[in-house]
Amino acid sequence: MSSYNNTLDTMFTVQSDKCTYSDETIVSDYTYETTLVEGNVVVPVTTKMQFRTERTVPKVGVMLIGLGGNNGCSCVAGAIANKLNLTWNTKEGQHKANYWGSLMMASTVKLGNDPRGKAVYTPIKNMLPMLDPSQVVWGGWDINSMNLGDAMKRAKVLEYDLQQQLYPHMKDIVPLPSVYFADFIAANQSDRADNVLTGSKQEQMDQIRKDISDFKAKHQLDKVILLWTANTERFASVEEGVNDTAENLLLSIQRDESEVSASTIFAVASILEGCTFINGSPQNTFVPGVIDLAQQEKIFVAGDDFKSGQTKMKSVLVDFLVSAGIKPVSIVSYNHLGNNDGKNLSAPSQFRSKEISKSNVVDDMVDSNRILFDADEHPDHIVVIKHVPYVGDSKRAMDEYTSEIFMGGKNTIVMHNTCEDSLLATPLIYDLVILGELCERISVKKEGSDEWERFHPVLSLLSYMLKAPVVPNGAPVVNALFTQRQAIVNVMRACLGLCPENHMTLEHRFE
Ligand code: NAI
Repeated sequence: MSSYNNTLDTMFTVQSDKCTYSDETIVSDYTYETTLVEGNVVVPVTTKMQFRTERTVPKVGVMLIGLGGNNGCSCVAGAIANKLNLTWNTKEGQHKANYWGSLMMASTVKLGNDPRGKAVYTPIKNMLPMLDPSQVVWGGWDINSMNLGDAMKRAKVLEYDLQQQLYPHMKDIVPLPSVYFADFIAANQSDRADNVLTGSKQEQMDQIRKDISDFKAKHQLDKVILLWTANTERFASVEEGVNDTAENLLLSIQRDESEVSASTIFAVASILEGCTFINGSPQNTFVPGVIDLAQQEKIFVAGDDFKSGQTKMKSVLVDFLVSAGIKPVSIVSYNHLGNNDGKNLSAPSQFRSKEISKSNVVDDMVDSNRILFDADEHPDHIVVIKHVPYVGDSKRAMDEYTSEIFMGGKNTIVMHNTCEDSLLATPLIYDLVILGELCERISVKKEGSDEWERFHPVLSLLSYMLKAPVVPNGAPVVNALFTQRQAIVNVMRACLGLCPENHMTLEHRFE
């Protein structure tokens, strides 16, 4: 234990008859306690279950779609910089590679109390055996053929001195040719499209499947995860007989149906190759046919849209306001950004995908308080995005929250956030991959059953990192950030047979 603070900087083991370690697994006995409310009758419910976590972290490859974009190349650059322990200079002095902004790599959770009753924290990454992004083999596709060294320069995200050091390690990474259906992304992207597959949709999907299996074989990987960080597409229209079931979707791909998007082709290829697929953009990649296929094949899918800046803040601030008994009545969000993402979003149908993704983020919080809001009553909520090339990747987000407070009073909060967009999004890519991979190693056996079950294929535990969480059919969508975080932490605690963190600290509240 460090002498300066109460963070445990080593791995730990749990000593309990509820937690058994073997070389291969950690198995815990867990009592899941919930509360059933029927009318005005409230019943505590307990369900006994076991959690099993495989301890061996496999060799993982991640294939990014949009590898040469600002997020894609910053992600690879960040992992390499950390692996090589790089330092670089700016006018402010020396900087050192880190994983700040990553929940899984740079945050801590309360583990318990020391014998004197002081809280002891642990890095989340020490809770269970987890992937380290520096050990991942990174690869993927882009419709633009630029190598990642030059793509990193084009992105203008990282400091010059760091770029110089990274360039030799990045210049030989060249994106694979990708699936490009011009109709789905903005017309202003067409000049980037010099690295595209040709042939029918089926032939292109078969090529993507081959790329995945070749990548796996070449790098001797145990598993591969795919993540879409390419440009935002317009929504695909969901049509009966086209993309409503797995079977229809596969047939639609065979007959070159125009409403099947590139991102959906990647999702289907990924599922058929047995690889988790994560969608970091807002479009409806996960049409019902994809969800159906994921369920049939028991492969994880998670999305949509990285929750990096403005929306992350919103899912904290509105939670705070509503849970404090304050009524937000108007939320107005402006953004301007100058990177290629902003250029793509300046086209109406791609902006519309983003607008939809950003719009429902306060719903669960508003719906939780009928003292403040009538049924179907919502705050006015507007989102504006403008492309201003000069500001590059340094996105500006301006928000005005107006709330009604005590006795007819009004409270207006105004926020201005300036930040390199990709430096917010990249750590989320690491988190999605780390948590997604961990979930592949966790299974649950309920009392009375002999079967170990995996999480539902729609992996909603990843919602913390996502703006518009896709959840299993009928499950509630949770956007509130700290609720999402507690879910992750408490699932990890359950894997170790530890009680949920309840913050009651009764040991300090009585004599
Ligand atoms: P970017 O425009 O720099 O990169 C996207 C890359 O995708 C480009 O290199 C482009 O050539 C490539 N691309 C386009 N269509 C493709 C296809 N069909 N196959 C393969 N590659 C393709 O954008 P950036 O900033 O990296 O953002 C990526 C995505 O992440 C966008 O959709 C954005 O909306 C989303 N996102 C970004 C956030 C952030 O940066 N803070 C937050 C939330 C979402």
